[in-house]
Amino acid sequence: MLHAIGSKKELTQLEYYTLVSDILENSMVQELKNYRHHISTTRFQHCLNVSYYNYLICRFLHLDVESAARAGMLHDLYYYDTKEYRHSNYELSHVKNHPDVAVNNASELFPLNPTEEDIIMRHMWPLTKGRPHSKEGYVIVIVDKYCAALELIAPKIRTAMKKMHLRKETVNVQ
Ligand SMILES: [Fe+2]
Ligand SMILES: [Fe+2]
Repeated sequence: MLHAIGSKKELTQLEYYTLVSDILENSMVQELKNYRHHISTTRFQHCLNVSYYNYLICRFLHLDVESAARAGMLHDLYYYDTKEYRHSNYELSHVKNHPDVAVNNASELFPLNPTEEDIIMRHMWPLTKGRPHSKEGYVIVIVDKYCAALELIAPKIRTAMKKMHLRKETVNVQ
């Protein structure tokens, strides 16, 4: 089962999947499942979330859906624990540098077109030097932040729902 956060759609059944299946099945991309990201999710799931919403928005806007989906899946392709990076007082460097690390890692695994490179390299704009050169590059700037917010909030909502449910059951028993 492959789902993006906030969606019940089985991604393997959609046209979306045909655009990214080689990336999703790549062992170095699968490796991202071993890295925690935004506290409550994995880097793989975060990239999948960004990739799918990039695809949906770019489809709506009649942009390059294939580049948006593929680069979305590769935009955080780096292999270190962000928390450890922070503890070494390099937080700002991480924020600015990881897009370059990701584009280098991605280009070793897959051929990247100029739009895909732009999407990956400038997804942290305005914290990175230079604004995106493509419309798809601007889409990921928003989608990445939107997914990060959802990923951070989702566990809190789940906990609140569980508490409400438990309280309801307690009231019913009394
Ligand atoms: Fe990132
Ligand atoms: Fe990201």
